[in-house]
Amino acid sequence: MTDKLVIGPPHSPETAFDESQVPVYYSAKTRDILHKYGPGPRVHFHLGLFDSTPNTTVPQHVVRRRIVESQETVLEHAAALWGVPAAPPAEVLDIGCGLGGGSIYWAQEYGSAVTGLTITAEHIPVMARLVRQASVSGLVTPVLGDAHDLREERAYDAAVAVESAVHMDRVRLFAVVSRALRPGGWFGLQEHFLCRPQVADFVNGYYKTRLGTVPEYVAAARDAGLELEQNEDVTDGVSEFWVQSMAWTTAELERSRMTGTPSPVGPERLRESALAHGRLFRIWRDHAVETRLLLFRKRKR
Ligand SMILES: C[S@@+](CC[C@H](N)C(=O)[O-])C[C@H]1O[C@@H](n2cnc3c(N)ncnc32)[C@H](O)[C@@H]1O
Repeated sequence: MTDKLVIGPPHSPETAFDESQVPVYYSAKTRDILHKYGPGPRVHFHLGLFDSTPNTTVPQHVVRRRIVESQETVLEHAAALWGVPAAPPAEVLDIGCGLGGGSIYWAQEYGSAVTGLTITAEHIPVMARLVRQASVSGLVTPVLGDAHDLREERAYDAAVAVESAVHMDRVRLFAVVSRALRPGGWFGLQEHFLCRPQVADFVNGYYKTRLGTVPEYVAAARDAGLELEQNEDVTDGVSEFWVQSMAWTTAELERSRMTGTPSPVGPERLRESALAHGRLFRIWRDHAVETRLLLFRKRKR
């Protein structure tokens, strides 16, 4: 377990955060996510893990394939770290499941029955189609709802939240997850953590997030009866994702200019994204924000 010092005071997650903006943001993004990270059926919207810095002067489809492979690589890495191959959980709650790439992954790779929960209504029909396409309709159930309002008790062997807890109130999140887990169950997160407060406004504004610190998450989890078991820093491996993502965006602008076929993402957003990704790369490279894989476990009794 790493115990790198987190710089800066604990961030107040309540500072002017408007929860209602999260589904609005993701509704508008559903089509863009499919266009950039699709066609699926496993479509992810999270950072991926790289072990090198591949040349970006390659065709756009090569960059896209790399991006998707890196997203699957980080899931494989998390699965191994969390001991999933040795003891696959029978029932999993995928909190903030996006278009369901992770839910389908846990079902296809480990045979888990997965409930995929998202607050974004537009995700549900898209995810349902991808689940059918992946032939896991019997295992994966997309559910529309707010994770904060979860009321289930002792219903799951495991819960996962891949880059979704950053949108939530952690005190409420860990309380509902702890209640929903069976004794001995675990909660795995891939998440971004604030190390330098001065970058908070930029990242939070861009992604409608409320970045927190590792100590904030650990304290909220402990109060809810969940103990930290794993804490791995994957920041260096995921920072290359920003470079590859920026290369895809630049190629998309060029493609639409050359062919005259407009991108569904729109030129304004593409230009904004290319600029922001340069800044995000530097933030991750400098560890002003860190991406970590955490594992919490609920006591057996
Ligand atoms: C960055 S995406 C990650 C999606 C998915 N986990 C993945 O890795 O592809 C964040 C997701 O969290 C969901 N989300 C955000 N706040 C939520 C909440 N309060 N309850 C349920 N889902 C939420 C959004 O709808 C979105 O699908």
